[in-house]
This record gives sequence, C-alpha cells and structure tokens, in this order.
Amino acid sequence: MLTRKKVTVIGAGHVGATAAQGLAEKEMADVVLIDIHEDMPAGKALDLAEAAPIYGYDSRLVGGADYEASADSDIVVITSGLPRKPGMSRDDLLRVNAKIVNEVTAKAVEKSPDAILIVVSNPLDAMTYVAYRTSGFPKKRVMGMAGVLDAARFKAFLAMELNVSIENIQTIVLGGHGDSMVPLPRYTTISGIPIMELISKDRLDAIVQRTRDGGAEIVKLLKTGSAYYAPSAAIVEMVESILKDKNKILPCSALCTGEYKLDEVFIGVPVRLGNTGIEQIYEINLSTEEASALTASAKTVQDLCKIAGEVL
Ligand code: NAI
Ligand code: 2OP
Repeated sequence: MLTRKKVTVIGAGHVGATAAQGLAEKEMADVVLIDIHEDMPAGKALDLAEAAPIYGYDSRLVGGADYEASADSDIVVITSGLPRKPGMSRDDLLRVNAKIVNEVTAKAVEKSPDAILIVVSNPLDAMTYVAYRTSGFPKKRVMGMAGVLDAARFKAFLAMELNVSIENIQTIVLGGHGDSMVPLPRYTTISGIPIMELISKDRLDAIVQRTRDGGAEIVKLLKTGSAYYAPSAAIVEMVESILKDKNKILPCSALCTGEYKLDEVFIGVPVRLGNTGIEQIYEINLSTEEASALTASAKTVQDLCKIAGEVL
C-alpha cells in the first residue's frame, strides 16, 4: 500500500509557511505546520488547504502548537527562530535561536525518531550543529539549508549579467552561510563554458561579493524581515531530492569528519541527497586559495558552535 509522506515544518513564519505552500503545491507530502503560537499555524494551514481546490493539490495540511500532529514525519524542517533585522548580523541571533532550535528539536525528534532534519534557522551552520547534538541522530540525517540558496543567488545574478537562461548555469558555493561563504567561480559554467571565458574578472568579483551579501541585500529592501521566497524554494528542492530519492548533488551544511581536513564541523559542502538523507559528501579539488577560504569559514563556524554549545 502506498503511504503518504509527511513533512513537518516548525516555525510557521515567512520561510516556514512559504515552504509549506511549495511542498503542498508540488504534492510532495502532507504538511504539518508547528509554531509556538497555536492559532496562526492552524490558520495558515487552513488557508493553504482552501487553496488546494484551485491549484489542484491533494496534500493535506494541518497546523498548531501541539507536536502530536507531527508524529512519524519523514522530514522535519526547522525554521523557528528570530529573523535578521536591518543592522543585525546573522551571528547576533546565535544564542536566542540556539535555545529555540534546541527546544523544538527535542520535541520533534521525540515524536519522529526516524525523521531527517533540515535546519534553516540562523546562524545556519551553528543551528544545524545544535539540532545534531540535541537529536542524537546519525550525521546523515541532519543537514542545513544554505548552499542551495547561496548558489541560486549566484546563478540569478549571473543570468541577469549575461542575459542567459538560469537553466544553463551550474555552480557550487561552499562554506558557512554568512560573510565567509566560498562561491566557486572555477566550478561555475554556462552550458559547460567556464564562466571566466564569458565575464571580466572585475564583474565576476562584484557578483561573487553580491552573492555573499545576498541575504543582507534583501533585508535592507524588506526592512521588516529577511528573504523567504528563495529560501523556501531551496528547502523544497532538498525535500524533493530526499523524498523522491533523486540523489541530486546539492551544496548543504553537513557534518565533516575529516573531509576537506575539517574535524567535526557543519559546513556547506556538495552532498548527494537521497531517501536516507546525506548519501555521500563529495570532496572536490580546491586551489590553495579556495581551501584556505573554506578552512577560515569553518573556523568561524566552530567559534559560533562553541557559544551555541553553551546553551545545550
Ligand atoms: P519569521 O519570524 O517569519 O518566522 C519564525 C517563526 O518561528 C515565527 O512564526 C515564530 O513564532 C516561530 N517561533 C519562534 N520561537 C518558536 C518556538 N520556540 N517554537 C516554535 N516556533 C517558534 O522568520 P522567517 O523569515 O521565517 O525566518 C526564520 C529563520 O530562518 C530565521 O532564523 C532566519 O534568519 C532563517 N533563515 C535562514 C535562511 C538560510 O539560508 N538558512 C534563509 C532565510 C531565513
Ligand atoms: C538569507 O541569506 C537571512 O540567511 C538569510 O537570506
């Protein structure tokens, strides 16, 4: 008998609710929206259920504050926390979000001990570490969403610059989700053509910097919160690769235990996502400069994890 997949999204705010909408519209699973507030997630889930007859999806949606509804989820997406406000760095959010992620992870894994966790709350890599520690899950079942978003931003800016289809662009962004992220122009191609053949170094450097600042650029424009359409799309792509066992290679925050000479740190690396979670971490060749940028990024994440670990 075919059983429906179930995805719980914790945090029914901008990112969580938009991700729930994307998951339902693609009929990826039944969706449970959980928040600290009781009625708001129930209202959003009902609103999405009422959109179903128009869009034609049969995914069922429920929402509330009680984790009972989330029991036996295949995937739990954690978006609960405070978003970044203008003038606030991702790292300012560290302590408060660490407490929230610790609390919601404990409640979620009690109900869904076999789930795969996708963490979204910021600062991303440190919050993924918190969820890993709190859940006690094997490393292949805990990952963070950031690289898919950062790579999408890099691709969007390149497509705008070169007036080419976004479908033609391949790229990888490594490292922590933050100022230390490591976009890789050397692994960026347009229909197989190395990017360096199509763009001047100055323009490419500017686009790499815009990618690093991509989150802050949206915060500055929105003024009351941070990005959610592209982050939600990134969550949906990861969930789809897992639930459909597509085995996409995507940059995700994964626990490196020796890969890239990194010891016990969650950081963005290319992984293959299939139905058991992270099926494989790929160790690609890096230049000396790229490798030292990744090491420096990992050091930044490790410093955050030390502080986050204090709230556990
Ligand atoms: P939001 O404020 O719209 O939603 C957050 C939700 O979490 C709120 O509804 C709030 O009530 C809920 N919440 C707070 N404490 C909770 C608790 N203890 N239990 C359950 N729910 C709780 O924020 P938004 O825009 O949805 O962002 C969510 C998080 O995702 C932020 O930390 C943000 O920085 C992060 N983010 C990360 C991205 C990434 O690339 N990894 C991209 C975009 C956002
Ligand atoms: C972003 O990159 C806020 O981390 C979030 O948009």
